[in-house]
Amino acid sequence: MEVPCIAVPREAGEESRQALAEAGVLDDDHQIVVDDETLYIPVTEPGAVPDGFETTVRELPVRQQVQTPADILGYEPSLERLGDVVIVDEDDPERAAAIAEAVMASDLPVRSVLNRASKIKGELRVRDWELLAEREDSDRAPTETVHREYGHEFLLDLSTVYFSPRLATERHRVVEQITPGEHVLDMFAGVGPFAIPAATQKAEVVAVDLNETAIEYLRENAHRNDVTDSVTAIAGDVRTAASDYHGWADRLVMNLPHSADAFLETAVDLAGDDCVLHYYDIQSDDDPFGPGIEAIKRAAEPAYDVTVETEHIVRSYAPHELNVCLDVRLRRVA
Ligand SMILES: C[S@@+](CC[C@H](N)C(=O)[O-])C[C@H]1O[C@@H](n2cnc3c(N)ncnc32)[C@H](O)[C@@H]1O
Repeated sequence: MEVPCIAVPREAGEESRQALAEAGVLDDDHQIVVDDETLYIPVTEPGAVPDGFETTVRELPVRQQVQTPADILGYEPSLERLGDVVIVDEDDPERAAAIAEAVMASDLPVRSVLNRASKIKGELRVRDWELLAEREDSDRAPTETVHREYGHEFLLDLSTVYFSPRLATERHRVVEQITPGEHVLDMFAGVGPFAIPAATQKAEVVAVDLNETAIEYLRENAHRNDVTDSVTAIAGDVRTAASDYHGWADRLVMNLPHSADAFLETAVDLAGDDCVLHYYDIQSDDDPFGPGIEAIKRAAEPAYDVTVETEHIVRSYAPHELNVCLDVRLRRVA
Protein backbone atom coordinates (compact mmCIF):
# COMPACT_ATOMS: atom_id res chain seq x y z
CA MET A 1 0.00 0.00 0.00
CA GLU A 2 1.23 3.50 -0.79
CA VAL A 3 1.75 5.63 2.29
CA PRO A 4 2.81 9.28 2.78
CA CYS A 5 6.50 9.73 3.51
CA ILE A 6 9.38 12.16 3.20
CA ALA A 7 12.36 11.62 0.91
CA VAL A 8 15.76 12.65 2.29
CA PRO A 9 19.41 11.92 1.43
CA ARG A 10 20.61 8.82 3.29
CA GLU A 11 23.13 10.75 5.39
CA ALA A 12 20.39 13.06 6.73
CA GLY A 13 18.28 10.08 7.84
CA GLU A 14 18.75 10.09 11.59
CA GLU A 15 18.48 13.85 11.94
CA SER A 16 15.27 13.81 9.85
CA ARG A 17 13.78 10.87 11.74
CA GLN A 18 14.37 12.72 15.02
CA ALA A 19 12.80 15.91 13.63
CA LEU A 20 9.70 13.96 12.55
CA ALA A 21 9.49 12.19 15.90
CA GLU A 22 9.74 15.55 17.69
CA ALA A 23 6.96 16.93 15.47
CA GLY A 24 4.84 13.85 16.32
CA VAL A 25 4.37 12.78 12.68
CA LEU A 26 6.63 9.72 12.45
CA ASP A 27 4.60 6.69 11.31
CA ASP A 28 5.73 3.70 13.39
CA ASP A 29 3.44 1.27 11.57
CA HIS A 30 5.51 1.25 8.37
CA GLN A 31 9.15 0.59 7.69
CA ILE A 32 11.74 3.14 6.60
CA VAL A 33 13.11 2.17 3.19
CA VAL A 34 16.41 3.05 1.48
CA ASP A 35 16.45 3.24 -2.29
CA ASP A 36 19.77 4.14 -3.87
CA GLU A 37 20.99 7.11 -1.75
CA THR A 38 17.49 8.23 -0.71
CA LEU A 39 15.70 7.34 2.50
CA TYR A 40 11.89 7.22 2.61
CA ILE A 41 10.56 7.85 6.10
CA PRO A 42 6.82 7.24 6.62
CA VAL A 43 4.73 10.01 8.20
CA THR A 44 1.26 10.03 9.69
CA GLU A 45 0.20 13.52 8.52
CA PRO A 46 1.99 14.99 5.48
CA GLY A 47 0.43 18.41 6.19
CA ALA A 48 2.06 18.54 9.63
CA VAL A 49 5.59 17.67 8.44
CA PRO A 50 8.09 20.41 9.47
CA ASP A 51 9.10 22.88 6.74
CA GLY A 52 12.00 21.96 4.51
CA PHE A 53 11.13 18.29 3.91
CA GLU A 54 9.98 16.94 0.54
CA THR A 55 6.82 14.84 1.02
CA THR A 56 5.81 12.06 -1.37
CA VAL A 57 3.95 8.74 -1.39
CA ARG A 58 5.49 5.33 -1.80
CA GLU A 59 4.93 1.63 -1.24
CA LEU A 60 6.40 0.91 2.21
CA PRO A 61 6.17 -2.45 4.00
CA VAL A 62 4.15 -2.76 7.19
CA ARG A 63 6.49 -2.92 10.17
CA GLN A 64 6.69 -6.40 11.69
CA GLN A 65 6.22 -6.67 15.43
CA VAL A 66 9.72 -6.94 16.93
CA GLN A 67 10.51 -8.51 20.24
CA THR A 68 12.24 -6.08 22.58
CA PRO A 69 14.22 -6.84 25.76
CA ALA A 70 11.27 -5.38 27.72
CA ASP A 71 8.88 -7.89 26.08
CA ILE A 72 11.12 -10.69 27.32
CA LEU A 73 11.87 -9.29 30.78
CA GLY A 74 8.43 -7.87 31.61
CA TYR A 75 10.01 -4.53 32.60
CA GLU A 76 11.83 -1.78 30.73
CA PRO A 77 15.55 -2.18 31.46
CA SER A 78 17.79 0.89 31.51
CA LEU A 79 20.20 0.51 28.63
CA GLU A 80 22.07 2.57 26.09
CA ARG A 81 22.95 1.57 22.54
CA LEU A 82 26.16 2.47 20.82
CA GLY A 83 26.19 0.98 17.33
CA ASP A 84 25.73 -2.75 17.84
CA VAL A 85 26.89 -2.65 21.46
CA VAL A 86 24.42 -2.36 24.34
CA ILE A 87 25.60 -0.73 27.55
CA VAL A 88 24.04 -1.27 30.95
CA ASP A 89 24.91 0.11 34.36
CA GLU A 90 23.91 -2.58 36.86
CA ASP A 91 25.46 -3.32 40.27
CA ASP A 92 23.43 -6.50 40.79
CA PRO A 93 25.14 -9.33 38.81
CA GLU A 94 21.93 -11.38 38.50
CA ARG A 95 19.95 -8.47 37.12
CA ALA A 96 22.83 -7.58 34.77
CA ALA A 97 22.93 -11.17 33.46
CA ALA A 98 19.13 -11.30 32.99
CA ILE A 99 19.14 -8.06 31.02
CA ALA A 100 22.06 -9.21 28.86
CA GLU A 101 20.31 -12.49 28.09
CA ALA A 102 17.09 -10.70 27.13
CA VAL A 103 18.97 -8.24 24.92
CA MET A 104 20.70 -11.07 23.07
CA ALA A 105 17.43 -12.99 22.67
CA SER A 106 15.52 -9.95 21.42
CA ASP A 107 15.34 -8.68 17.84
CA LEU A 108 17.78 -5.85 18.54
CA PRO A 109 20.77 -6.01 16.18
CA VAL A 110 23.30 -6.44 18.97
CA ARG A 111 26.78 -7.95 18.98
CA SER A 112 27.70 -7.52 22.64
CA VAL A 113 26.40 -6.33 25.99
CA LEU A 114 28.71 -4.45 28.36
CA ASN A 115 28.31 -3.37 31.97
CA ARG A 116 30.04 -0.26 33.30
CA ALA A 117 32.71 -1.58 35.68
CA SER A 118 34.29 1.69 36.84
CA LYS A 119 33.87 5.41 36.62
CA ILE A 120 35.58 7.28 33.79
CA LYS A 121 39.12 7.73 35.05
CA GLY A 122 42.65 8.94 34.43
CA GLU A 123 43.96 11.45 31.94
CA LEU A 124 42.57 9.48 29.00
CA ARG A 125 39.04 9.43 30.52
CA VAL A 126 38.47 5.72 29.77
CA ARG A 127 36.45 3.34 31.97
CA ASP A 128 36.64 -0.40 32.68
CA TRP A 129 33.97 -2.68 31.21
CA GLU A 130 32.56 -6.07 32.14
CA LEU A 131 31.58 -8.20 29.16
CA LEU A 132 28.11 -9.66 29.87
CA ALA A 133 27.36 -11.29 26.52
CA GLU A 134 28.75 -11.53 23.02
CA ARG A 135 27.62 -13.06 19.73
CA GLU A 136 29.72 -16.12 19.02
CA ASP A 137 30.20 -15.29 15.36
CA SER A 138 31.59 -11.81 16.08
CA ASP A 139 34.90 -11.09 14.39
CA ARG A 140 35.60 -7.86 16.29
CA ALA A 141 36.45 -6.96 19.86
CA PRO A 142 33.20 -6.82 21.84
CA THR A 143 34.05 -3.25 22.90
CA GLU A 144 34.60 -1.98 19.35
CA THR A 145 31.65 -0.59 17.40
CA VAL A 146 30.55 1.87 14.74
CA HIS A 147 28.39 4.68 16.11
CA ARG A 148 26.33 6.89 13.77
CA GLU A 149 25.54 10.48 14.68
CA TYR A 150 23.99 13.24 12.53
CA GLY A 151 25.07 11.60 9.28
CA HIS A 152 28.62 10.72 10.40
CA GLU A 153 30.05 7.39 11.46
CA PHE A 154 32.63 6.80 14.15
CA LEU A 155 34.57 3.61 14.72
CA LEU A 156 35.74 3.37 18.33
CA ASP A 157 36.70 0.94 21.04
CA LEU A 158 35.17 1.74 24.42
CA SER A 159 37.95 -0.09 26.25
CA THR A 160 40.66 2.22 24.90
CA VAL A 161 39.03 5.61 24.17
CA TYR A 162 36.52 8.02 25.66
CA PHE A 163 33.15 8.27 23.93
CA SER A 164 29.66 9.33 25.01
CA PRO A 165 26.66 9.22 22.65
CA ARG A 166 24.79 11.40 25.16
CA LEU A 167 26.68 14.46 23.90
CA ALA A 168 25.42 14.12 20.31
CA THR A 169 22.97 17.03 20.52
CA GLU A 170 25.56 19.23 22.18
CA ARG A 171 28.17 18.47 19.53
CA HIS A 172 25.62 19.27 16.86
CA ARG A 173 24.85 22.61 18.56
CA VAL A 174 28.52 23.57 18.32
CA VAL A 175 29.12 22.21 14.82
CA GLU A 176 26.15 24.14 13.43
CA GLN A 177 27.91 27.40 14.38
CA ILE A 178 30.92 26.63 12.15
CA THR A 179 31.28 28.47 8.85
CA PRO A 180 33.32 27.34 5.80
CA GLY A 181 37.01 28.16 5.90
CA GLU A 182 37.21 28.57 9.69
CA HIS A 183 40.26 27.29 11.54
CA VAL A 184 38.90 24.92 14.20
CA LEU A 185 41.19 23.44 16.82
CA ASP A 186 39.80 20.65 19.01
CA MET A 187 42.16 20.47 21.99
CA PHE A 188 40.75 17.18 23.38
CA ALA A 189 39.44 15.53 20.25
CA GLY A 190 38.96 11.85 21.18
CA VAL A 191 37.89 9.84 18.13
CA GLY A 192 36.71 13.01 16.36
CA PRO A 193 33.00 13.59 17.09
CA PHE A 194 33.52 17.40 17.01
CA ALA A 195 36.47 17.50 14.62
CA ILE A 196 35.04 15.40 11.81
CA PRO A 197 31.63 17.12 11.53
CA ALA A 198 33.55 20.43 11.71
CA ALA A 199 35.53 19.34 8.66
CA THR A 200 32.28 18.40 6.91
CA GLN A 201 31.23 22.02 7.46
CA LYS A 202 34.31 22.85 5.37
CA ALA A 203 36.42 24.09 8.27
CA GLU A 204 40.16 23.46 8.38
CA VAL A 205 40.56 21.30 11.46
CA VAL A 206 43.38 20.45 13.84
CA ALA A 207 42.50 17.69 16.30
CA VAL A 208 44.75 16.89 19.28
CA ASP A 209 44.51 14.13 21.85
CA LEU A 210 46.87 12.65 24.40
CA ASN A 211 45.49 9.19 23.65
CA GLU A 212 47.35 7.75 20.66
CA THR A 213 44.69 5.11 20.10
CA ALA A 214 41.97 7.77 19.97
CA ILE A 215 44.01 9.63 17.34
CA GLU A 216 44.36 6.41 15.29
CA TYR A 217 40.56 6.03 15.39
CA LEU A 218 40.16 9.73 14.55
CA ARG A 219 42.30 9.28 11.42
CA GLU A 220 40.25 6.22 10.45
CA ASN A 221 37.06 8.20 11.07
CA ALA A 222 38.28 11.10 8.94
CA HIS A 223 38.79 8.53 6.19
CA ARG A 224 35.33 6.95 6.72
CA ASN A 225 33.68 10.35 6.55
CA ASP A 226 35.71 11.53 3.58
CA VAL A 227 37.38 14.54 5.24
CA THR A 228 41.04 13.44 5.43
CA ASP A 229 42.18 16.47 3.43
CA SER A 230 40.89 18.96 5.98
CA VAL A 231 41.81 17.21 9.25
CA THR A 232 45.26 17.26 10.83
CA ALA A 233 45.35 14.79 13.73
CA ILE A 234 48.06 15.14 16.37
CA ALA A 235 48.77 12.69 19.20
CA GLY A 236 50.22 14.32 22.31
CA ASP A 237 49.67 16.73 25.17
CA VAL A 238 47.98 19.79 23.66
CA ARG A 239 50.17 22.05 25.84
CA THR A 240 53.17 21.10 23.72
CA ALA A 241 51.85 19.17 20.70
CA ALA A 242 50.03 22.14 19.13
CA SER A 243 52.89 24.63 19.38
CA ASP A 244 52.92 25.12 15.58
CA TYR A 245 49.42 26.62 15.81
CA HIS A 246 50.15 29.72 17.90
CA GLY A 247 47.52 32.40 17.06
CA TRP A 248 45.87 30.10 14.48
CA ALA A 249 42.41 29.22 15.79
CA ASP A 250 39.11 30.92 14.93
CA ARG A 251 37.37 28.36 17.13
CA LEU A 252 38.61 26.23 19.99
CA VAL A 253 36.79 23.22 21.46
CA MET A 254 37.78 22.36 25.03
CA ASN A 255 35.86 19.26 26.08
CA LEU A 256 37.78 18.14 29.16
CA PRO A 257 35.25 19.30 31.73
CA HIS A 258 37.00 18.46 35.01
CA SER A 259 40.24 20.21 34.24
CA ALA A 260 39.83 22.52 31.23
CA ASP A 261 40.88 25.50 33.39
CA ALA A 262 44.42 24.09 33.53
CA PHE A 263 44.59 24.42 29.72
CA LEU A 264 43.34 27.99 29.33
CA GLU A 265 46.82 29.43 28.97
CA THR A 266 47.34 27.10 26.00
CA ALA A 267 43.92 28.04 24.60
CA VAL A 268 44.81 31.73 24.69
CA ASP A 269 48.11 30.96 22.98
CA LEU A 270 46.29 29.09 20.18
CA ALA A 271 43.54 31.72 19.75
CA GLY A 272 43.61 34.02 16.74
CA ASP A 273 42.58 37.69 16.81
CA ASP A 274 38.87 36.80 16.94
CA CYS A 275 38.23 33.35 18.34
CA VAL A 276 35.22 31.52 19.79
CA LEU A 277 35.97 29.21 22.67
CA HIS A 278 33.62 26.34 23.60
CA TYR A 279 34.58 25.72 27.21
CA TYR A 280 33.10 22.66 28.95
CA ASP A 281 32.91 22.61 32.70
CA ILE A 282 31.35 20.68 35.57
CA GLN A 283 30.20 22.91 38.41
CA SER A 284 27.74 23.09 41.26
CA ASP A 285 24.22 24.13 40.24
CA ASP A 286 24.55 27.13 42.65
CA ASP A 287 26.86 28.88 40.21
CA PRO A 288 27.50 26.69 37.15
CA PHE A 289 29.00 29.40 34.91
CA GLY A 290 30.78 31.84 37.26
CA PRO A 291 33.98 29.85 37.90
CA GLY A 292 34.52 29.18 34.17
CA ILE A 293 33.98 32.82 33.21
CA GLU A 294 36.39 33.96 35.93
CA ALA A 295 39.03 31.43 34.82
CA ILE A 296 38.72 32.47 31.15
CA LYS A 297 39.00 36.16 32.03
CA ARG A 298 42.04 35.51 34.22
CA ALA A 299 43.76 33.72 31.33
CA ALA A 300 42.72 36.01 28.44
CA GLU A 301 42.51 39.56 29.79
CA PRO A 302 43.90 42.14 29.18
CA ALA A 303 45.27 40.86 25.84
CA TYR A 304 41.73 39.90 24.75
CA ASP A 305 38.25 41.32 25.26
CA VAL A 306 36.16 38.48 26.65
CA THR A 307 32.46 38.27 25.69
CA VAL A 308 30.29 35.42 26.93
CA GLU A 309 27.96 34.62 24.03
CA THR A 310 26.11 31.60 25.48
CA GLU A 311 25.75 30.00 28.90
CA HIS A 312 24.46 26.54 28.08
CA ILE A 313 23.53 23.64 30.37
CA VAL A 314 24.51 20.43 28.59
CA ARG A 315 23.14 17.94 31.12
CA SER A 316 22.87 17.09 34.76
CA TYR A 317 26.10 15.35 35.78
CA ALA A 318 25.44 14.32 39.40
CA PRO A 319 23.08 15.55 42.14
CA HIS A 320 23.62 19.34 42.28
CA GLU A 321 26.33 19.18 39.62
CA LEU A 322 25.89 20.35 36.04
CA ASN A 323 27.88 19.78 32.88
CA VAL A 324 27.84 23.18 31.16
CA CYS A 325 29.33 24.87 28.11
CA LEU A 326 30.35 28.49 27.80
CA ASP A 327 30.60 29.88 24.26
CA VAL A 328 32.99 32.77 24.69
CA ARG A 329 34.37 35.18 22.09
CA LEU A 330 37.95 36.36 22.54
CA ARG A 331 38.83 39.54 20.59
CA ARG A 332 42.44 40.62 20.66
CA VAL A 333 42.83 44.15 21.98
CA ALA A 334 44.64 46.27 19.36
C1 LIG B 1 36.09 14.02 27.77
S1 LIG B 1 37.13 13.36 26.52
C2 LIG B 1 36.45 14.19 25.10
C3 LIG B 1 36.74 13.52 23.79
C4 LIG B 1 35.93 14.07 22.60
N1 LIG B 1 36.00 15.50 22.50
C5 LIG B 1 34.49 13.61 22.67
O1 LIG B 1 33.58 14.42 22.81
O2 LIG B 1 34.26 12.39 22.58
C6 LIG B 1 38.64 14.22 26.82
C7 LIG B 1 39.80 13.79 25.94
O3 LIG B 1 40.92 14.62 26.30
C8 LIG B 1 42.10 13.85 26.15
N2 LIG B 1 43.16 14.52 26.93
C9 LIG B 1 43.35 14.53 28.27
N3 LIG B 1 44.42 15.28 28.59
C10 LIG B 1 44.91 15.78 27.42
C11 LIG B 1 46.01 16.64 27.11
N4 LIG B 1 46.82 17.10 28.04
N5 LIG B 1 46.22 16.96 25.81
C12 LIG B 1 45.38 16.47 24.83
N6 LIG B 1 44.35 15.65 25.09
C13 LIG B 1 44.10 15.31 26.36
C14 LIG B 1 41.69 12.47 26.63
O4 LIG B 1 42.55 11.48 26.11
C15 LIG B 1 40.24 12.36 26.10
O5 LIG B 1 40.20 11.72 24.85
